[in-house]
Amino acid sequence: MKQIQIPGKNFPIFVYDTYEEASLAAAEFVAAEIKKKPDFLLGLATGSTPVGLYRALIEKNKKGEIDFSEVKTYNLDEYYPISPRNEQSFLSFMKENLFDHINLKPENVHIPCGEAPDPNLEAEHYEKELLAIGGVDLQVLGIGSDGHIGFNEPDDAFILPTHLVTLTEQTISDNARFFPSKKDVPTHALTMGIGAIMRAKKCILIANGKNKARAIREALLENPSPANQASILQFHRDVTFFLDHDAASEILSFLQDAVADPV
Ligand code: F6R
Repeated sequence: MKQIQIPGKNFPIFVYDTYEEASLAAAEFVAAEIKKKPDFLLGLATGSTPVGLYRALIEKNKKGEIDFSEVKTYNLDEYYPISPRNEQSFLSFMKENLFDHINLKPENVHIPCGEAPDPNLEAEHYEKELLAIGGVDLQVLGIGSDGHIGFNEPDDAFILPTHLVTLTEQTISDNARFFPSKKDVPTHALTMGIGAIMRAKKCILIANGKNKARAIREALLENPSPANQASILQFHRDVTFFLDHDAASEILSFLQDAVADPV
């Protein structure tokens, strides 16, 4: 592992040789936070990225190192429309990859409902729940290859509340791997907005693979812009990045060039 620092930016960035190492380090970080506060409010993400983290958290829970009995979870997003019982729903994903294997109470799980009759009302309802808690203690984030966090897609503004979003062509293609075919990927989703993500007391963002390198460079190095929604994290009060070498590659070459060519 090496810790890197971008001149002028004060958020910690940890770079690991492998995805497994990055996931284990993220799990140590999350576990240490949960140990400090039994009724922890934990914001969660879906997708391939957090699977290694979830595997490690399951292990720690089974060994008795962390207890989820009083923890409440808040997921970032859910496809719309989708039945929560559909095996491609994010709720099913969370059950399979985390919830069914830890001592978390089902009533402590929060996730937008993909089959609510009115998505805008469901978004309002989820936002009210998020406002009532005043911000999760820790939000786990992945990043889309287009820089999205949650399903906040590239836009000309940062949308603050939970909202219904039209998924980009890029996101639909990226996520087609979870569905029988690309045409089965829902075109919409309900997502936590940037407001709730920024209200989180801490955030961690995990990224692995070359296909994330550009989004990570834009998010961490360039001036924050809604064209890369993750770039707003530069303004977060407590964000830590766990990257594998591939995801960090464009930042690493920027830093090398900066050293080789000091101004
Ligand atoms: C999903 C979510 C998304 C994913 C992103 C990366 O809850 O929040 O922002 O983190 O699409 O997905 P993977 O990890 O599958 O590359």
